[in-house]
Amino acid sequence: MSFSHSKVLAITNHKGGCGKTTTTINLAAEFGRLGLKVLVIDMDPQANASLHIGMTHPSRVDFTCAELLLGDISSLPHAIHEQTHLEGVSLIYGSLGLGKTEDELKDVTPRPSEELRSKLEAADSVYDIILIDCPPSLKLLTSNAMAAATHIIVPVESGSQYGLYGADDLLKHIDKIRRINPKVALLGALLLKHDERQTVCKLLESTAMKTFGQILPVKISTSTKVNQAAVMQQSLHSLDRSSKVAREFRELAASLMETLKLKAETEDAQ
Ligand SMILES: Nc1ncnc2c1ncn2[C@@H]1O[C@H](COP(=O)(O)OP(=O)(O)O)[C@@H](O)[C@H]1O
Ligand SMILES: [Mg+2]
Repeated sequence: MSFSHSKVLAITNHKGGCGKTTTTINLAAEFGRLGLKVLVIDMDPQANASLHIGMTHPSRVDFTCAELLLGDISSLPHAIHEQTHLEGVSLIYGSLGLGKTEDELKDVTPRPSEELRSKLEAADSVYDIILIDCPPSLKLLTSNAMAAATHIIVPVESGSQYGLYGADDLLKHIDKIRRINPKVALLGALLLKHDERQTVCKLLESTAMKTFGQILPVKISTSTKVNQAAVMQQSLHSLDRSSKVAREFRELAASLMETLKLKAETEDAQ
């Protein structure tokens, strides 16, 4: 199965703390604000994305991504929660149970990496864009996200000298996934906590370019507002639309809309 309408973006890097969840949430907020129908899938047992935009605590949600992965083909409607803190954005919750699901998957299905893709089939005509927030590992949950994806973005912590540690393993994993999802496109690395005045960031940028072949044109700078927005369960745009990071995420979303040939319903530049 491949998607004919929805763009499915896996936000992935097995390195923790590089900005996967921040990217997922703020891109989702932007796409929603522009009138697209957006679905966020939280594949991380830590459920940070769900804690950020969910109306319910993930531990109290009965039907999460864990149940979806192990459920039958008709499970999707039970897993989708249309109400979130972001307008136009629906959510499939993550949960601690995803860890156990990951262990169980290979025993219950002959194609353990393709369960998410097969369950998402029905979403193709409904959502313009589906964003998958991945866990910090290259195991089955991430494989499921990559196998379902039409496109992959790799957030990289620019200000860290270890920001590209493990990048080769990630690229090898994407190559392996191409056997079951040949059309998946790597859009490139997204640099976060980037400060072009710092030598470490400049060095990392040039190595990331060589490693991934492409760097997304908009880089995200460091800001304490990122953490503040998560605590307040808001997007950066709604926390402080005039801040530099909010502007950067708006620009990133606009650039991705062009790359992915998505059309905004409302053109609200503010
Ligand atoms: N641009 C940024 N500026 C400052 N802090 C950031 C930025 N991006 C992410 N963070 C912080 O870094 C931590 C890790 O980010 P997160 O998005 O949760 O990464 P991941 O999902 O890859 O583990 C969080 O505490 C987040 O608030
Ligand atoms: Mg995360």
